[in-house]
Amino acid sequence: MSAPYVDLKEQFIRIFGSGGRLHIIRAPGRVNLIGEHTDYNDGFVCPMAIEPQVLVACRAREDGKVRLASTVFSDSIVEFSVQEKIRRGEPAWANYGRGVAAELLGAGIPLCGMEALYTNNLPVGGGLSSSAAIEVSTAFCFLTLVGQTMDPMRLALICQRAEHEFSQVPCGIMDQMIVSTAQAGKATLFDCRALTKQYVSIDPKDLRVVICNSMVKHELTGSAYAERRRQCEDGVAFFQKEYPSIRALRDVTCRQIESAAGKLDEVILRRCRHIVGENARCVEAGQALDQQRYERVGELMVQSHQSLRDDYQVSCPELDFLAAEAMNVRGVYGARMTGGGFGGCIVALCQPRSVEMLTGHLRETYKQKYGIEPGIFATTATAGASVLE
Ligand code: GLA
Repeated sequence: MSAPYVDLKEQFIRIFGSGGRLHIIRAPGRVNLIGEHTDYNDGFVCPMAIEPQVLVACRAREDGKVRLASTVFSDSIVEFSVQEKIRRGEPAWANYGRGVAAELLGAGIPLCGMEALYTNNLPVGGGLSSSAAIEVSTAFCFLTLVGQTMDPMRLALICQRAEHEFSQVPCGIMDQMIVSTAQAGKATLFDCRALTKQYVSIDPKDLRVVICNSMVKHELTGSAYAERRRQCEDGVAFFQKEYPSIRALRDVTCRQIESAAGKLDEVILRRCRHIVGENARCVEAGQALDQQRYERVGELMVQSHQSLRDDYQVSCPELDFLAAEAMNVRGVYGARMTGGGFGGCIVALCQPRSVEMLTGHLRETYKQKYGIEPGIFATTATAGASVLE
């Protein structure tokens, strides 16, 4: 029998040398079934963890030095120390590690140094949360090496802060939450205000989740995300004037949106309409999934895509094309863009017998239209990050 993770261990030893106790950590990527751009509006999301993942081999160091290497990002080793003030810097990918170390120390967790090698079969920058997977796996490495564990939700919040402070992406809590707390075989309907969750079964006997990567990444991603957040805040400020109890778009009703027409800036109104509608769709879809009413889940996914395309304006022609083509295949319940947008992936829910037809159809039509080979795979819902060895 061949030993597990033997390639990763061999590469680790080639880079850092042999000796000492090696640990292996995994953290999955995620796909969001519905509830997009709602997390930073105190709303609802319904993601699940997926099979592609980040794997890390790590080992403690006595001298407080942290040395990070990656088989994906660069050949050189990044070095910093947990005994000195940790600062952002180049290469950018290592800011996930620096940020997580700084935030764990800030939370009062004493850390030791470490050597870590990251490897990854999760497409980087594909909108499947490779960043959150690196952050959460790094936190697991540090904690494991000092013999500690942490409540997974607390760990997610620490990783989110690391992303805000060190990668300067003002993300919501969805990605780190699901990468850290997911349960195998389940999607999570998550309330981003109360931080409470309800697990919903995704049984591969009844339902398959297919992800199709458009392989495009449009320039706007970073700046447009921050812009959408500001527009949501402008919306909250408007509604607050009339209804002082409103704290976030989560608190705004459909009726309030309708009566704001003509009074609120047209673009801000659209952004708010997406969020208010998307929260309602997400909660309903979570319930419908639980009751195995997959047709209804699919309808809500299609509406979600339209709203992201027309009102929130974070889709792009490639994603619109893939989402529409998926719906032309028999047995597909619903399809929509997933994640932040401006490229990345669509997610489709379908009957098990439709998977092959769906993947073939998307591959063919997309290649014909854009001359690009998309990355397509079906996945089960996996568990959140864990220590494997
Ligand atoms: C990115 C962010 C998440 C969330 C999604 C959009 O993935 O990291 O917090 O806002 O976009 O739903």
